[in-house]
This record gives sequence, C-alpha cells and structure tokens, in this order.
Amino acid sequence: MGLPALPTPWPAARAEPSHCSEMTPDPRAEGAPASAEDDAADKPAYPRRGIRSFVLRAGRMGSGQVKAMETLGPLYVLPYRTERLDFDAAFGRHAPTVLEIGFGMGDATAQIAVARPQDNFVGIEVHTPGVGALLQRIEERRLTNLRLLQHDAVEVLRDMIAPGSLAGVHVYFPDPWHKKKHNKRRLIQAEFVRELSSRLAPGGYLHCATDWQPYAEQMLQVLGAEPTLANTADGYAPRPDWRPLTKFENRGIKLGHGVWDLVFTRRS
Ligand SMILES: C[S@@+](CC[C@H](N)C(=O)[O-])C[C@H]1O[C@@H](n2cnc3c(N)ncnc32)[C@H](O)[C@@H]1O
Repeated sequence: MGLPALPTPWPAARAEPSHCSEMTPDPRAEGAPASAEDDAADKPAYPRRGIRSFVLRAGRMGSGQVKAMETLGPLYVLPYRTERLDFDAAFGRHAPTVLEIGFGMGDATAQIAVARPQDNFVGIEVHTPGVGALLQRIEERRLTNLRLLQHDAVEVLRDMIAPGSLAGVHVYFPDPWHKKKHNKRRLIQAEFVRELSSRLAPGGYLHCATDWQPYAEQMLQVLGAEPTLANTADGYAPRPDWRPLTKFENRGIKLGHGVWDLVFTRRS
C-alpha cells in the first residue's frame, strides 16, 4: 500500500518510560528500589501542563531503532494534530479501528495486528525506543494495519479521535503508580474512562489488563461505575485468545503475580 510521506514527529530527546517492563525493575521483585517511582514523579516532563501518566527520561536507542525511526517513521508514525484523525485516509481502507494506549516495546501490539488483519490498529506510546522497536516489527511482519502515534494518549484521544469512532480500546499493563501519593497519575480514572467510552462506537469494547491487584480493583470500580459501559463478565474477564502474553506479564507470572483482565462494552 502506498502511504503519503508524513513529517517526522518524534522529539530530538530520546525518552523512556518510568515503569515500562523493559526498563524498570518490578518494585515487587526482590532488591528492586522502592523509590524509583518517587524519583521519576518528582521530575515531570511537562510540569506546567498538568498531571501526566508517564515520565520521560533519557534512554538509549539501538541502531536498528534509530534507522527504523528515520526510514519507517515517516510512513507509519502519524503526526499529533489538534484535528480529527481520518482513519480511512490513514490506513487507505475502511475497517474497524482499535486504539492501544501505551504499547511499550510493542511485541503484543504486533502479534495482535498479525492475528486480526481485518482490523486497523492505532498504537500510542511516548517512549521513543518503543516506537522504534514497533516500527521494526511492522517492517519484519509487513504489517499494513498498524499506525503509531508518539504523543500523550490523553491529548490524542481528546483532540484526534472522533466520538463514537472506535471499535475498541486496549490498555495493557498501564503504569501502576504504586505509591498512594502518585495514584492520581493512573490512566484509568473516572474522567478519562468517560472520555474513552465516548470515543467507542455502540458495542465497541474497552479491554484493560494489569498485574497490580490494587489497580485491578480500581479499574473494576471505575469501569463498573461508568454508566455508558457494561461489563462482559461477572467481575474480571478471562484473557481473550487474541491477547498474547507480554514479556512483562510472563515475567510477573514466573514471579507468582496474578493478572487481571477487564472487558467492558459501550452501551448503545
Ligand atoms: C508498564 S508499560 C506497559 C507496556 C506494554 N503495554 C506492555 O504490556 O508491555 C506502560 C507504557 O505506557 C506508556 N504510557 C503511559 N502513559 C502514557 C500516555 N499518556 N500516552 C502514551 N503512552 C503512555 C509508557 O510510556 C509505557 O511504555
């Protein structure tokens, strides 16, 4: 499929997330520093622009990731704009479109895009090495149904996603922000969930997963309280076949941690 050249949207500063599986030790693992979140949270990337669900830090990019950003970025990374994204134009076809928030290194994202060729996927991530890594997967697997956006998902949702336009939303292992004083940075909160739900088409789904039990409980409470959403399960849901285990999740399972999936649908 021929794609128009797009301006390169990634920032000059290289960045990595505060909690992502690939970068930060699990705070529950033996020997992990308990204060990593505190340190990160004290240095917000955008101090004047409100509370963010992520913190950017300087990070290393592999040479393959740098090359992918240069050569594939203009083709597959959509620029952030304060105007609605035209999915048909972005993908060159009309198909149900699913948004993923915080894809990390993108392994699960690529696997899902392979497993569901009939659907379009827009993956959002602020972390440059992760964007580079997923661009590499796009090329290796010749994926035509995946586009990326490197920007704060809260703003992307607000500015670029039209109400009632999404077939689904994936939020897999969002940063747990373990410390009580940082819980306000969690993505899954009432206001954002209302916004997410408004972007779903009737019958569209919101699928969240976490391995942090207090966050799972918060998700269940917040999603359950959103009147426009209906739970597909009696509480937590079984993991759908098409959601592969992420590296992060596999590591947690080996350490004996639980995993909680939640699947809600938009009422008509
Ligand atoms: C703990 S990692 C999980 C990554 C991946 N979903 C997985 O399961 O391996 C959470 C990711 O969400 C990203 N993230 C957090 N808040 C975000 C936001 N507002 N917009 C875009 N990405 C965000 C972080 O950069 C990080 O890579």
